Amino acid sequence: MPPPPMIGVIGGSGVYQIEGLEGASWVKVSTPWGKPSDEILVGRLNGTPMAFLPRHGRGHVHTPTSVPYRANIDALKRLGCTDVVAVSAVGSLRPDYQPGDFVLVDQYIDRTFAREKSFFGPGCVGHVSLAHPTCPRLGAACLTAAKAAGIKTHASATYLAMEGPQFSTLAESRLYRSWGADVIGMTGMPEAKLAREAELCYASLAMITDFDCWHTDHGAVDVAQVIQTLTANANAARNLISELPALLPDHPTCPHGCDHALTYALMTAPDKR
Ligand code: ADE
Repeated sequence: MPPPPMIGVIGGSGVYQIEGLEGASWVKVSTPWGKPSDEILVGRLNGTPMAFLPRHGRGHVHTPTSVPYRANIDALKRLGCTDVVAVSAVGSLRPDYQPGDFVLVDQYIDRTFAREKSFFGPGCVGHVSLAHPTCPRLGAACLTAAKAAGIKTHASATYLAMEGPQFSTLAESRLYRSWGADVIGMTGMPEAKLAREAELCYASLAMITDFDCWHTDHGAVDVAQVIQTLTANANAARNLISELPALLPDHPTCPHGCDHALTYALMTAPDKR
């Protein structure tokens, strides 16, 4: 009998711990891509193995650009994670998605430009499909968990990933709205791309902390506002995570193919890899 699946959780700003993990310990994981953002908290939640990684490190030491995205995804894969739920803070680009709400991200526009975005490179070339960059099965479980935890969650959102660390100009914010983006954040990419290359099921749950700067009834976003909304809703994120294990099957094969994303992706001949 294979071991039960391990759920990885990547915590965003304001989520540096998860409580209630049985037998929890912080473990150091080495990867060929360098050190992950921090040690990883491994334990069990209602019997299910879980691994928790704070994306910015405890104490929030990594900028969105300096987060070691490849090491983070590789470390979770090495620990045996099959499913990764990414939690993050975002600004809203539409009036009906409001601060304090959660959204399940299912599409991205990647405008980041200063990050390593692939495990592939010279010597081994691969092109995975990103048409559907998140896992619908894991996303559905997240939505059910959110409902069980009583959290208002929008079922779909297009995420504009910006480089940061500065927030957007008004002209940029308006441009992204005209493109059909629903929320904006600084860390969703390349994380989702790398999770697909690592054949992990990946879902992204984002907490809306502000209206960015486009909304005429609201002032421009600042960190105090982001932290205030994050703190007020941090328990919601924790409650949602604790509902998850019961919703995921013991020995999943992904019906959407996330777990064999590389089958038709490799270009380099086997004897050249
Ligand atoms: N994270 C939280 N709010 C944000 C915003 N308005 N823009 C980019 N990243 C964010």
